[in-house]
Amino acid sequence: MEQYKLFIDGEFVDAASGKTFESVDPGTEAPIATVAQAGKADAETAIAAARKAFDKGDWSGLTPTARMAKIQDFADQVAQQGLRLAATECMDSGQIIGLAKFGPLLGIGLLRNLSLAAATKFPWEEEIPVSGNAFAPGREFIRREPIGVCVGIIPWNFPMTMAFWKIAPALIMGNTVVLKPASVTPLSALIIAEAAKAAGIPNGVVNVIAGPGGELGEILCTHPGVDKIAFTGSTAVGREIMRLASSTVKKVTLELGGKSANIILDDADMDLAVEGAIFGTFFHQGQICESGTRVLVSSKIYDEFLNKMKKRAESLRIGYQMDPTSHMGPLVSKQQLATVEGYVKLGKEEGAELITGGNRVEVIGIRGGYYYAPTIFANVNNKMRIAQEEIFGPVVCVIKYDSEEEAIAIANDSIYGLGGGVFSTNLARAERVARGVRTGTMWINNYHVFADYCPFGGYKQSGVGRELGFEGLHEYTQVKRIHSAAIADHKSNMTFQLMSDYKKIDGFSYNCPTNVVAGHGALVSLSKAIVDLGCRRALILTDPGVNKAGLAQLVKNTLADFCVGVYDKIPSDPDLETVDAATATARELKADCIVSVGGGSVIDTAKGVCVTLKNGGKANDILNFLVLTEPQTPHIAIPTTAGTGSEVTNVAVLTSKGAGRKLFIVDTRIMPNVAILDPRFTMSLPKDMTVSTAMDAMTHAIEAMTSTMSNKICDGMALQSIRLINENLALVVADGNNEKARLNLQIAATMAGWAFTIAQVGLAHGMAHTVGALHHVPHGAACGIVLPKVMRYNVDHAADKLAQVAQVLGVSTTGMTERDAALAAADAVEALMEKVGHPMRLRDVGVPEENLVICAFHAIADTAVLFNSRPVSDPNEVLQIYTQAY
Ligand SMILES: NC(=O)c1ccc[n+]([C@@H]2O[C@H](COP(=O)([O-])OP(=O)(O)OC[C@H]3O[C@@H](n4cnc5c(N)ncnc54)[C@H](O)[C@@H]3O)[C@@H](O)[C@H]2O)c1
Repeated sequence: MEQYKLFIDGEFVDAASGKTFESVDPGTEAPIATVAQAGKADAETAIAAARKAFDKGDWSGLTPTARMAKIQDFADQVAQQGLRLAATECMDSGQIIGLAKFGPLLGIGLLRNLSLAAATKFPWEEEIPVSGNAFAPGREFIRREPIGVCVGIIPWNFPMTMAFWKIAPALIMGNTVVLKPASVTPLSALIIAEAAKAAGIPNGVVNVIAGPGGELGEILCTHPGVDKIAFTGSTAVGREIMRLASSTVKKVTLELGGKSANIILDDADMDLAVEGAIFGTFFHQGQICESGTRVLVSSKIYDEFLNKMKKRAESLRIGYQMDPTSHMGPLVSKQQLATVEGYVKLGKEEGAELITGGNRVEVIGIRGGYYYAPTIFANVNNKMRIAQEEIFGPVVCVIKYDSEEEAIAIANDSIYGLGGGVFSTNLARAERVARGVRTGTMWINNYHVFADYCPFGGYKQSGVGRELGFEGLHEYTQVKRIHSAAIADHKSNMTFQLMSDYKKIDGFSYNCPTNVVAGHGALVSLSKAIVDLGCRRALILTDPGVNKAGLAQLVKNTLADFCVGVYDKIPSDPDLETVDAATATARELKADCIVSVGGGSVIDTAKGVCVTLKNGGKANDILNFLVLTEPQTPHIAIPTTAGTGSEVTNVAVLTSKGAGRKLFIVDTRIMPNVAILDPRFTMSLPKDMTVSTAMDAMTHAIEAMTSTMSNKICDGMALQSIRLINENLALVVADGNNEKARLNLQIAATMAGWAFTIAQVGLAHGMAHTVGALHHVPHGAACGIVLPKVMRYNVDHAADKLAQVAQVLGVSTTGMTERDAALAAADAVEALMEKVGHPMRLRDVGVPEENLVICAFHAIADTAVLFNSRPVSDPNEVLQIYTQAY
């Protein structure tokens, strides 16, 4: 009789206790080998060896390619043991030889395929192109690293295949393994260990210990040196393993029991379906977790199907497993035979109709052996225990159903969800059913088919996690995220600021991808811009007012053949539906480029359209910070108001009805490609709109300067912008046709846009967004009204910046304190507004006084407020400012 030892730390050794046990051939009940019986001490030695090997890094530290080379040697050694493995597996487990001979081939294939995938395709390290955190810029990547010591605990039905399923992915992903085969079938795993040793897999990387599950399981699942457990077996033991593993919070994957439904639709090919039901149930004596042990048959074909199935079951040859003509061999053990007999008795008691089988079988020429006839229960009710509990033997329940929906409901009426099948000649129908069943695998017109790259695992109480495929490889890794800050300066870290008194950002990045063309006649550059962007089909987006002023027509004439249409249905303060409607038109017209002609409302809508046109979906999908990973549909912006700046900013402001407020898309990738500042486009802007939009730009500039994110580039542009507005606004108000002054306002607006893209804005914007969304106050007017009040509110937090603002507003600050100069800046803003006829109070623009409280609460929650130089958290303070402005 052959003698097998434990495999620990690269050596075959006796058990510490010296104990051995016998492994029995279930086809003859004769012992075939003695095996060293591991106990707690051996498990501890094996874990220590695996731990040491992992920590040393001889295996875990190799590159996946180097590991692949070793795994290929391992596969070759398995090939050399192929015949021995197959024969031993057959005798040890009762698998018919026709099946056992595939075991080594499948193992070799798995080793080779998954190691190749790990070396060439697995995402070991990945950049995350967007982080979703706008406040902490930097490089983001994730690494997948080996977990450590992995325990594999495997069952007796497919000992060799299960050993490969546990050892292969663990090793391929850089881990070390302690494998515990079932005590009734320990041999093939120990032969695989020989192959690993012969291949030169480093000592301690593979360890195999055979012995009693209870004792070994306890130590393997609770030992702090173990990082992961992969178990295949019954749901009852799986629950226990999960409980044990919880004491040290190990990662656990479980492949557990099943009671899978094999659904035969009324249009199934009868012969194929009968064969599928027989193979799905009786293959390997039904000792397979994903077996289709509930055959659900349409009432339309029930009688015919049952007859054929009975005949086919009765034609199966039951014989010694080494006999190549046997279709079925013995059950694995006396105990399993007793379980099956118990369930058959129960089925009869429950009232199911036994139509064939239900008895042990004697094989001619053999004394003993655990042979059992293929057994069919008909007219089974799904509530019966034989339909709900896993039997793990050649016993099938046939259940009648009337409709497809009923079949799916019966299939899902189970604590399990591991496998299942559908037989039908109508694939659309079969797929519909397959989608409806809550289970880890569904086969259509087939059963028991596995593949190295296809994941296997269970829903519900059939398990946790997946084996095989990329999903299976992921289970053997840890995920590590690495964030590397873009700016390493304590004064520039927005999150650290939460716990520091330093409220200014020093470091910054300046990103200005928009090509700006400015000046009289700049419009003619449009056609070249379109060609440079590689486009041919431009859609003009505009609003009714702008269209009426003839500006869209001007653009259309210039675009000539490049124009596929004009869409002018954009209202002021656009919402998400505005974007979706414009995108629908752009899709219809197959536009490959957007030309926006209008103020902030049009340009922001266009930004949204460029995103949805490129990425599909709706505006609501991308309403967020930093969600875009690629350049968007090309966008050329032609601003027509005096202040939006949106033509160069990274923001689109869109009203969300769901959220009841203005929300933002913030992303560098939505900055327009080209901005054309042609003063002709603002000549028709009515005086009140000129004034209020100019005050929007003024607010951008002042708030960017005083924001916690301001820096020298931002401040330079902001100051120049404020100076230009102060010098030119009154000129434009006096003479709307003053082209030079108009152009200066446009340039001021663009510079203010750049400034706020660097530094963001502040409380005045938060307050203006709120009254804009809730009471339709034009954005610029709202900004202007609250701006001087907010400047005063911020005075002790931004006196230096506001004093500079005073100077460019023409205030003589000589002899003034910084604080007084800052207050004088606010006065100067008010004076300018009065001079140009800007509305001075919220009551004048239709805000009801009783709503100021609600407005204050909304304003505090606006993103812009985060960057205000004076921290804002008290709605009462905001209410006071609203009240002052009322
Ligand atoms: N994304 C950004 O960077 C940014 C910046 C500022 C404002 N905004 C947003 O933009 C919107 C406000 O934009 P806006 O202030 O530019 O106004 P707007 O786009 O809403 O236009 C206001 C009105 O002016 C009319 N108009 C515009 N140009 C004209 C012209 N040349 N001749 C005649 N009529 C003309 C329009 O028809 C419209 O009725 C708000 O929703 C605001 O939140 C966004």
